[in-house]
Amino acid sequence: MTETVGRQSPAAARANDVWKVYGTGEAQVAALRGVSVEFERGRFTAIMGPSGSGKSTLMHCLAGLDSVSKGTVQIGDTTVTGLGDSGLTKLRRDKVGFIFQQFNLLPTLTAQENILLPMSIAGRKPDPAWFDTVIDTVGLRDRLGHRPSQLSGGQQQRVACARALVARPEVIFADEPTGNLDSRSGAEVLHFLRNSVREHGQTIVMVTHDPTAAAYADRVVFLADGQIVSELIEPTADTVLDTMKKLDTPVEVAG
Ligand SMILES: Nc1ncnc2c1ncn2[C@@H]1O[C@H](COP(=O)(O)OP(=O)(O)OP(=O)(O)O)[C@@H](O)[C@H]1O
Ligand SMILES: [Mg+2]
Repeated sequence: MTETVGRQSPAAARANDVWKVYGTGEAQVAALRGVSVEFERGRFTAIMGPSGSGKSTLMHCLAGLDSVSKGTVQIGDTTVTGLGDSGLTKLRRDKVGFIFQQFNLLPTLTAQENILLPMSIAGRKPDPAWFDTVIDTVGLRDRLGHRPSQLSGGQQQRVACARALVARPEVIFADEPTGNLDSRSGAEVLHFLRNSVREHGQTIVMVTHDPTAAAYADRVVFLADGQIVSELIEPTADTVLDTMKKLDTPVEVAG
């Protein structure tokens, strides 16, 4: 890993030799086994790997949603692994945004209320111009008064994207954001995520199983069995597929 002690890290998020072990005794599962990785500011990174390889676990540990068994995690200059409960609450509220496969919208709130909820909990007001930009880009202007049950899956996920983006967090973590969407709605969400990186400098880390979705990213990191096994810069769907095929062939992974 690059030596960055003593100067400000350019990374929006970073894991240093992170281990995560669930359970005890015979039921023990090492979901992460010494993961060290940096996510540069203003970049769109995809995380790929087989089911059970530790993608969601890594994301949850990075975002302070789950504790690590060993190692450290940083978001910007904050050492997440050194925070207590109130520090973690503040971190999740002020520094990170989430987009989940299952949208996770509150059913009793309208689209607009859902989008603004994290900020209103934090006592912050969105910049009106930025709110307008976000709403227009996700194409939700005429749906702001609808509740989630009155929206399609694609529209609900666009609400979740807007909710994450409107607060301009240090980093947005998206766990299979297009997993429940048809290809057209998925492409819309991916365009929007990529544009927020290109045009607005947002940092995004996205887990996906789909090589086409991964190709929207600037970089792809591959996990297998709780370890990082490969990486691609400026991926295309073809190079992602090739790498996935190679990783499917069992090889000895050093380290
Ligand atoms: N709360 C938990 N308790 C026990 N084991 C867990 C827990 N969460 C995850 N695991 C285990 O850790 C491993 C990694 O899980 P994780 O959810 O990170 O995989 P993933 O790469 O996100 O998979 P998928 O692509 O299916 O979402 C799996 O073996 C899983 O069973
Ligand atoms: Mg997962």
